Amino acid sequence: MRIDVLTLFPGMLDGFLSESIIGRARERGHLEIGVHNIRDWATDKHRTTDDRPLGGGAGMVMKCEPVFAAIEAVQSPGCRRIYLTPDGAPFSSARAEALSRESHLVFLSGHYEGIDQRIRDTVIDEELSIGDYVLTNGTLAAAVIIDALARFIPGVLGEEKSLTHESFTACLLDFPQYTRPATYRGMAVPEVLLSGNHTAIGKWRRAEQERKTALLRPDLLNSSNTTA
Ligand code: ADE
Repeated sequence: MRIDVLTLFPGMLDGFLSESIIGRARERGHLEIGVHNIRDWATDKHRTTDDRPLGGGAGMVMKCEPVFAAIEAVQSPGCRRIYLTPDGAPFSSARAEALSRESHLVFLSGHYEGIDQRIRDTVIDEELSIGDYVLTNGTLAAAVIIDALARFIPGVLGEEKSLTHESFTACLLDFPQYTRPATYRGMAVPEVLLSGNHTAIGKWRRAEQERKTALLRPDLLNSSNTTA
């Protein structure tokens, strides 16, 4: 998969792109990611990317010219162009899985009070929000979405099976995990985990998933979180 990120703050992605599973996925060629500074497509002498809102009001709005030029420079036939915005559709695990099957994604990070609506109307295919709060710009939202979808690309996670049992794949939260020592500061791990009885362990884990989900996220039990 190829991903291009258009942002005014490319440095915000430096650590994210080189560390851990995403860094390894890039090294191994599962993921090719280009990060581009929108300012590189500004043509005036001050390299302006924003302007005052027409009709008045506070703040600044990202201008059409550099953004159209940036998108047109990186897009490819059949790519999916995604704008990150708090008024986008809520991002989900199901959406991450669907996006992981695309061959080329272009993420546009907004800034200031937003971007000129004509960009959204013509060169954006989808708008996504990562939650009901407002970030200073969409760059970290792009990173969150890339991180979540990369895990669904075959080969990115060493152990494919680690995807199958975890939170949200089955609309349930994860079960509690323990490792050695079996007793730490007087706290013993649940006995069943030391039993070697895999049927009993499986049953206990499933019951814990249901108990935790009912307690912490009852909304997940009534929703079909499987639609993309
Ligand atoms: N840009 C600013 N806030 C955002 C959010 N919550 N989700 C996606 N993009 C954003």
